[in-house]
This record gives sequence, structure tokens and C-alpha cells, in this order.
Amino acid sequence: MGLFITFEGPEGSGKTTQIQRLADRLRQAGQPVLTTREPGGTAIGDQIRAVLHDLRNRAMDPRTEVLLYAASRAQLVAEVIRPALARGTIVLCDRYTDSTLAYQGYGRGLDLETLRRMMDFATGGLKPHLTLYLDLPVEKGLARKREALQRGEGEWNRLDQEDVAFHQRVRAGYHALAAAEPGRWRVLDADRPIEAVQTDIWKAVVPLLERETA
Ligand code: TMP
Repeated sequence: MGLFITFEGPEGSGKTTQIQRLADRLRQAGQPVLTTREPGGTAIGDQIRAVLHDLRNRAMDPRTEVLLYAASRAQLVAEVIRPALARGTIVLCDRYTDSTLAYQGYGRGLDLETLRRMMDFATGGLKPHLTLYLDLPVEKGLARKREALQRGEGEWNRLDQEDVAFHQRVRAGYHALAAAEPGRWRVLDADRPIEAVQTDIWKAVVPLLERETA
């Protein structure tokens, strides 16, 4: 069984860059690695992602939203993540169930226990071995995202449109989730140079690799 590592964090926290760097480093160390992202990561999931992120879909009910995230995730787990783990691959996933708890639970106010049951159903109970949370003040994250857009990178999606209070609830939610499961989570200050954050990520991953090969 391979290792399943998820990345969480607000907009603009640098998840994509950090995942790419970690994947390169693991490959250099001779490890088989697969990177993927949510929502999406499969042909079906990418179609669901387009509906979820479409700025015209302002009328989307929070329940519709959560079911679409769950549907995309169910497909990703079945088609990509479980088979890769079964081959002994290290899977690095950009967002997973904790995004739903943070955004739809803490952000939108949907019941957390209901969401947990839905996540269990969608994933068949597959949990990450490690969750790396890249923490950043809300305004900084949104500003970084805007700068990236000006460079022609990234996308401005339906959730980015939400007000600062929504993103603040999401961040507080992440902090609560991390505090409730300290064994699985590492909270990293993402308001630092890329290399400094990557060093901390590597420090969190190495003990898991050693345990795998022991
Ligand atoms: P990203 O691809 O830039 O990380 O954007 C994904 C967006 O979708 C981000 O705003 C967070 C949101 N999201 C949820 O609200 N719930 C979820 O379950 C997932 C996976 C993402």
C-alpha cells in the first residue's frame, strides 16, 4: 500500500507549486509518485469541475455543490487513487475531503456530521496518511491569487467570489480540523519563501517514507 498525502489550504497558498516540488524530489529519490487534484483529476471529474467553477452558476444550492464535489471525489478515488495506492505509488492530492468540511461545512454552514458520512460514502472510507495544510491569512491568499491571474495563471472560480468573511470561516475551520486530528495534520506557515515551506514539507514526509520502507 502506497502513501496518500493531501494538501489543503486557502486560495493562493502555493499548494500547486509545493506539490510539484515535492513530486520532483520524491522522484529523484527513486519513489513512484502520482499527483492529482480536486475537483477533477479524471475525465468525468473535470466535467464536474467545470460545472462547479462556472461563474454563471450563481444559483447553485449548497447541497448541489457538495454533492458535485462528492461525485468528483468518488470517481477520483475509484479510478485513480485506490489503484495507484495498490501499486505502491505515493499519491499527492491537491485538496480532498477536508476541503469539503472546510468550505461547505465551516464556510457554507452545512452540518459537519452529515458531510463526514457523505465523504465516507464517496471515498469508501479512504483517509490520507498525512495532510499538509498551507496556512495563509485570507487577504494575502486572495491578493496572491489576483496577482497570479494578472500573470495569466490560475482561474477565478465561483468560490473565490465569496466575501472575506466566508474565507475567514474556512480558515478557522481548517484550524479546528487540524487541532482535532494532530497526528494526521501538519500546519505550515505558507507566508514564507517557497524553499522554506518545501523544507518543512520534506521534514514531514521523510518519516513516513522511512516507515514505509522499514
Ligand atoms: P483550486 O483548484 O484553486 O484549489 O480551487 C478549488 C476550489 O474549490 C476552491 O475554491 C475550494 C473549492 N472546494 C470546495 O469548496 N470543496 C471541495 O470539496 C473541494 C475539493 C474544493
